[in-house]
Amino acid sequence: MLQLTSCKKLGLLLMCALLLTACKSSTDQKFSNRKVSFNADWSFHLNDSIIDKDTIRASTKWRTLDVPHDWSIEGKFDEKSPAGYGGGALNGGLGWYKKTFKVAAEDSTKITSITFDGVYRNSEVWVNGHYLGKRPNGYIGFQYDMSPYLNYGEKNNEIIVKVDNSKQPNSRWYSGSGIFRNVWIETTDKLHVGQWGTYITTPKVTTEKASISFETTIKNQYKEGKKATVTTTIFKEDKKVTSVTQEITINGNENQTLNQSAEVENPILWSVENPELYTAITEVSLDDKIIDQYKTTFGIRDFKFDLNKGFILNGKQVKIKGVCLHHDLGPLGSAINTRAIERQLEIMKEMGVNGIRTSHNPPSPELLDLCDKMGFIVMDEAFDMWKQTKTKYDYGNDWDKWHKQDLIDQLLRDRNHPSIFVWSIGNEIPEQWNEKGVEIAKELAAITRQYDKTRPLTAAMNPPVNMNIDAVTLQFEKKDVSINPLAGSGVLDLIGYNYAHQTYEHHLKNFPNTPFIATETTSGLQTRGYYDAVSDTIKKWPVRWDLKFTEGNPGNTVSAYDQVQTPWGSTHEATWKVIKKHDFLSGMYIWTGFDYIGEPTPYEWPSISSYFGIVDLAGFPKDVYYMYQSEWTDKTVLHIFPHWNWKAGQTVDVWAYYNKADEVELFVNGKSVGKRSKKGDDLHVMWRIPFEAGTLKAISRKDGKVVLEKEIKTAGNPSQLKLTADRSTIKADKNDLSFVTVDILDTNGTLVPNANSEINFSLKGNGKIVGVCSGDPVSHESYKGNKHTALAGKCLVVIQSGDTSGRLELTAKANGLKQSTIVIITE
Ligand code: GAL
Repeated sequence: MLQLTSCKKLGLLLMCALLLTACKSSTDQKFSNRKVSFNADWSFHLNDSIIDKDTIRASTKWRTLDVPHDWSIEGKFDEKSPAGYGGGALNGGLGWYKKTFKVAAEDSTKITSITFDGVYRNSEVWVNGHYLGKRPNGYIGFQYDMSPYLNYGEKNNEIIVKVDNSKQPNSRWYSGSGIFRNVWIETTDKLHVGQWGTYITTPKVTTEKASISFETTIKNQYKEGKKATVTTTIFKEDKKVTSVTQEITINGNENQTLNQSAEVENPILWSVENPELYTAITEVSLDDKIIDQYKTTFGIRDFKFDLNKGFILNGKQVKIKGVCLHHDLGPLGSAINTRAIERQLEIMKEMGVNGIRTSHNPPSPELLDLCDKMGFIVMDEAFDMWKQTKTKYDYGNDWDKWHKQDLIDQLLRDRNHPSIFVWSIGNEIPEQWNEKGVEIAKELAAITRQYDKTRPLTAAMNPPVNMNIDAVTLQFEKKDVSINPLAGSGVLDLIGYNYAHQTYEHHLKNFPNTPFIATETTSGLQTRGYYDAVSDTIKKWPVRWDLKFTEGNPGNTVSAYDQVQTPWGSTHEATWKVIKKHDFLSGMYIWTGFDYIGEPTPYEWPSISSYFGIVDLAGFPKDVYYMYQSEWTDKTVLHIFPHWNWKAGQTVDVWAYYNKADEVELFVNGKSVGKRSKKGDDLHVMWRIPFEAGTLKAISRKDGKVVLEKEIKTAGNPSQLKLTADRSTIKADKNDLSFVTVDILDTNGTLVPNANSEINFSLKGNGKIVGVCSGDPVSHESYKGNKHTALAGKCLVVIQSGDTSGRLELTAKANGLKQSTIVIITE
């Protein structure tokens, strides 16, 4: 067990232990977790010029921080940043982390390992001057056994981590830099379940019975052989379900993999609506004494991708309504925070999303845990490039040496997650177009199938049928198409389409034996809350690769009517209409659920973040969110837009997304301007009307009965601020977050849609402001400051708790506006 040095830390640890005990389930009480967090109290030093660990050690310029940490997000947006606009115009660099720690004397007979869930990138680690290793890939977890080099008892240990993200560009999107995921210390007996040492599958599942198969790898780091007992017990919540035991004899310094199986009567199946989880606790005993315990969470479910019926989960057809996500968390950068990921997933769930694609890299373990718990169909993706690079210094340079190990580690790490249904071996890989790519795909497929045969394999191809965009847009039918070599190779279990929605209906003709998945779709572009008054007179920026913002809308804004798309993509409605129509189209992953930092398409300063999100960088939905909600959820929806602040007499298009009704009637200042109904496969209705200040009101009706009413009022001048917290009580654990929305209102409390005041924040109490953001892709204000300019009347401020319970008082002020204060309780 790790010893903590100061009393303050000891107090904190005791408090955490008490808190943990208080909320533990009885399964947890029986279970002693061998992993403890190693996130607190690191020292950090950013210095591009010192590349030697002994010189950096002597420096006096270290600052203390907790990881996960992303240093790039602390920097300034820089037009000349070597990361480019693709990388969010934020610099990489060379960063150093160090930490001093003690290890209890009693642990000298044990194994003490350190696990990094992800360090971007090129990390190198030393403990007490001994080199532990290097890991170029920033997104995969890795572990080092520190035991041979540790001091035990009173003597300190020192760990140093060098993180080299200085060679830029190395990513097409904002990566972040540093120890940006969690760090753990694991202490085990020398005989223990290995790292990622369990593999649980459910070969046969019916509602009456499920057979469960356990493959467990036991590692013996004793010199001598051991006779041990391995027991695996399945729990459903607190209740023991069943248990299996096996005796093993294992030679010194060897690993042994054993296979056990069990049956669960009347299993409660994992589904998107009821993501039911089981726990397996594996115990290793020597001489009747339990010396190691290892916990695996898993789910029982049965699924297949059917050529004609699409995705079938537990015997029922489920359309995959997914989104692609990059790993950054908007204003928090790439430093992972479980609550921030949970909030993103909650916002997606509310919209009706049931699938997540981890584009284009292994995600944080916390994202997968949340997808297990919340019910998402995950496509877990390994690579954005193979050997051929996409940016000068990217992972392609590390491919030869590392791809096998990185892929194997991802599979071992992730294969127990019930939420994962598809492995993707790559995104838009340049080698897909030649035979070399087929060879690589065969190798990756063989590795994947060696470690998991239970899930299909795909690649996100662009597109599987060889054609150019113009041919597709103009007349696909007449074009002679050939199959992309990778798609035609027979290596893939699912044919993965990126875009080219015009070709989906031909899938069964082109690929009569292989089921379909739209790995990536849409790439629509919108700025939240920005509208041209009349939707079809907007410049459909960018209609061509070479068209710049300057030829489109002013200020690098993109209209929020769902009419602007990339040349390779489509509007949101266009792709969903096709996917919706046919059972054999198993579903789609939209590019993207949230805006992300970097890749402002096309790359043009001052834009530094993407426009693709259905939700902006701050977490505020754009209008098209409600189109999906009306289609994908059971909620009753009526959403009208744009705002109602225009010039007198100006012609304005009003759109409505609605469901559960057969008509919507629109009123301006109480006077009807007409009823509209969706016809055919329409997904919205529209009125083109002259603007008149006052109230715009929509009423949806079914069989003449009112279903919903919605009103938008013309706002007056900005007069006051209003703060609303997503959670007003948070945990006092130095991690939990409250996301507070700031609305700029007029005197009547109406949101002022064009208000863009600079808002200043101050916080009293033991907590921190950790992020500010308006969702504006053009803003260069730091996300880490305590002031920010609102976009379309809104701004976000993120508050993080300290380690004491109490009150946090947040105040927002802006020139000429009535201030607002809100209290957040930490407990
Ligand atoms: C795709 C690519 C994504 C993103 C997107 C933007 O081709 O896979 O990573 O770049 O385009 O439209």
